[in-house]
Amino acid sequence: MKKLLALICSPRKPSNSELFAKAVAKELGSDWNLELVRLVEWKIFPCRACYKCLFNSCPQKDDMSALLEHIANADALIIAAPTYFLGPNARLKTFLDRGLMFYSLLDKLWGKPMLGVVTAGIKGMEGYSKLVLDGAIKIMGGRLLGTVVVFGAFPGEAVMGVENREKIRKAAEALISNRPIEEESEIRCPVCGGDSFRFGSNGFVKCLRCSNEGNWSIENGRLRMDIAVGEHRLFLSYEEAQKHADWLRGMKERFLEVRHQLKPVIQEFAGVGQTIVPPSKTEESREVSE
Ligand SMILES: Cc1cc2nc3c(=O)[nH]c(=O)nc-3n(C[C@H](O)[C@H](O)[C@H](O)COP(=O)(O)O)c2cc1C
Repeated sequence: MKKLLALICSPRKPSNSELFAKAVAKELGSDWNLELVRLVEWKIFPCRACYKCLFNSCPQKDDMSALLEHIANADALIIAAPTYFLGPNARLKTFLDRGLMFYSLLDKLWGKPMLGVVTAGIKGMEGYSKLVLDGAIKIMGGRLLGTVVVFGAFPGEAVMGVENREKIRKAAEALISNRPIEEESEIRCPVCGGDSFRFGSNGFVKCLRCSNEGNWSIENGRLRMDIAVGEHRLFLSYEEAQKHADWLRGMKERFLEVRHQLKPVIQEFAGVGQTIVPPSKTEESREVSE
């Protein structure tokens, strides 16, 4: 039996994110078993930017390592996040910010089938959520089967109606066949398949997924993208991902080399501005002293 793990980023119970994942699992049939992780129930602390996890010693004592083990042991992953103010909610970002830990499990994550799900209450108001979900899966080393955007405001609406039922069917089909969902957009980054770009007036174009740059032009009335692999290769192949991890690990040595040059620059700014102490902190200190 195949294990499908669904990371549910919504705090709602029940949530459209969870219901959609369950609907996909039902469609998959009895060969698959669905396991759910409701991220709000897991203790995932913010990244402290100490880079120690690159050397397998993250100082955050929380549920992140256990969660990564579950992901590594699954046959396929669904990441489902609600749209909050045009982007996926912060639960997803807190998890992703700990992503330097992914590198220690790259062997197990690379090529794992992964499907993104974005829920949004207003048709067309999903903003940049799909871009983040697609990027998250690529950064994790997953085989991106696509990110499905489903509309529905009240819990339950994301699994109702012909359109959403069709999205459930397509998502299940992608998981069974391990083939990406065919999407309507014809305009894709020739390097990574991304579908979101930044355009410049002088023909400049940049893929917002892989960060590579190139030129756009109109050919026979159609938009053409000439984007080539540049310096940004972090998820283009397993070897490139490993190389990026090694480069990051090497930064420790480089930091130690230049540390003395950085110190005076930092000191120059000591004492500039006043840091406002949040009321919760002053209350805390009062409580302690009382
Ligand atoms: C704080 C907040 C912000 C939201 N912002 C958006 C938004 O920008 N665009 C949109 O379409 N829906 C927005 N919604 C609606 C949710 O995306 C929608 O209800 C969705 O179904 C929630 O999915 P869930 O049940 O999985 O949490 C917002 C909801 C909340 C609570």
